[in-house]
This record gives sequence, structure tokens and C-alpha cells, in this order.
Amino acid sequence: MDFLTFALPKGRPYGETVALLRAAGVAGTELTDDEGRSLLITCPEQRVRFIIARDSDVPTYVEHGAADLGVVGKNVLMESEPKVFELLDLGYSKCRFVLAAPASADPRRLLDGSSDRRVATKYPKMTQAYFQSKGVQVETIYLHGSIEVAPKIGLADMIVDITETGRTLKENNLVILDDLWTSSMRLIANRASYRLKAERIAPLIQTLRELITQ
Ligand code: PRP
Repeated sequence: MDFLTFALPKGRPYGETVALLRAAGVAGTELTDDEGRSLLITCPEQRVRFIIARDSDVPTYVEHGAADLGVVGKNVLMESEPKVFELLDLGYSKCRFVLAAPASADPRRLLDGSSDRRVATKYPKMTQAYFQSKGVQVETIYLHGSIEVAPKIGLADMIVDITETGRTLKENNLVILDDLWTSSMRLIANRASYRLKAERIAPLIQTLRELITQ
């Protein structure tokens, strides 16, 4: 039986991703609303499998063909630049990349380029590209999460991270110094699967497009 395999991200976008795939008729009840601990879920009726992964790993599964399709944030794609096709902007989990610093810091001094500043981020390539475009030299400190704590404990002067509701910034006394880019969830495809499984993928894109424009 020819299965279509998806890589889906755990965490915040999970619920909306499941709801969208259910509405599109791709997922059966085997794909439950809460993530659980089952990391490979099969829906035999729909001939679909779901790999539940860390968001930053979704492009890896898709690029290497372990998954035919993936759902992942543009933020992750911008940083990792995987060799995949980006098929559709799904529109949800909208967030902004921002540069933020402690409310008590003087932003002009932080950005005057007179001394090397440290910037904590999950997005080192994007962060370097941003500061290069500004002609400011910084040292990036790569962290996997909880970025907002770094200035508080003296690990960094500033952060570049995504913000959705603004709550994490606020609770850690950080203020936005600059808005860098925006992000939302995207549907991506393995390049070979896109051609070889076009019969299944093309109508799915059409259904999803109709659902997200409703
Ligand atoms: C993301 C991001 C911020 C937070 C922003 O982290 O890195 O920390 O969400 O969201 P907010 O503006 O709605 O508060 P995530 O929840 O993915 O966890 P992490 O810190 O472990 O990466």
C-alpha cells in the first residue's frame, strides 16, 4: 500500500495542524488532539503516516525523504534553508522575529558598534545576516530554547527570537528594539515525492488552499 508520510511539529502549532489535516480529510482519529507519546502514527484508512517531531527536525525528515510532506514554521525554514519545495503558506501560528533587550538597557549604546555585543538566539544564521546588514559586529550565542533568560543572567546583551503573544518578552522584562521578519506555518514537500506522488499531493494542496482561504 502506498502511504503518504507527513512530518508534523510538536508544541504550539500541533493542535491547529491536526485540526487542518482532519478538515482536509487526510488524518483519521488515530491522530489525536493531544500529542501523546506515540511518535509515529498510522491512519490506514487514509493511507497516511505521521511522524511527530521537533519543529527544527521537520525539514530534515522531508529533505531526506523520510517524510513526503511536512508542516513547519517559516522561521525554521529561513534558518535551515533545506532543499525542499515550499508549497503553501498555511497562515496560522503567525509570529515575528524580533531583536529585544532588557528594558533597562540603552538601545543606542547596545547598537553603536563600539564594543562586541553578545546576542542569544535559536537563529544564528539569520541573526548574523541581520547584524551584517546593519554593519554591526556581534557575537551570537546559540541556545535551543528559553532564549529570554540569557540577558537576565548575563549570558547575552540582547536576543533575537520569535514572539507570538509577547508574553515571554514581557515576563522577562525585555523590550523590542527592532522587528526583523514575520513567520507562519508552511507546507513543504520532498522534491522527489512531489513528482512521484503528485496524484495524491496535488489534490491535497488544492483542498488545503480552499480550507485556509475560507
Ligand atoms: C517560543 C519563542 C519564545 C516564545 C514566544 O518558544 O522562542 O520563547 O515562544 O511566545 P510568546 O510571545 O507567545 O510568549 P517556545 O514556546 O517554542 O519554547 P522554547 O523557549 O523552548 O523554544
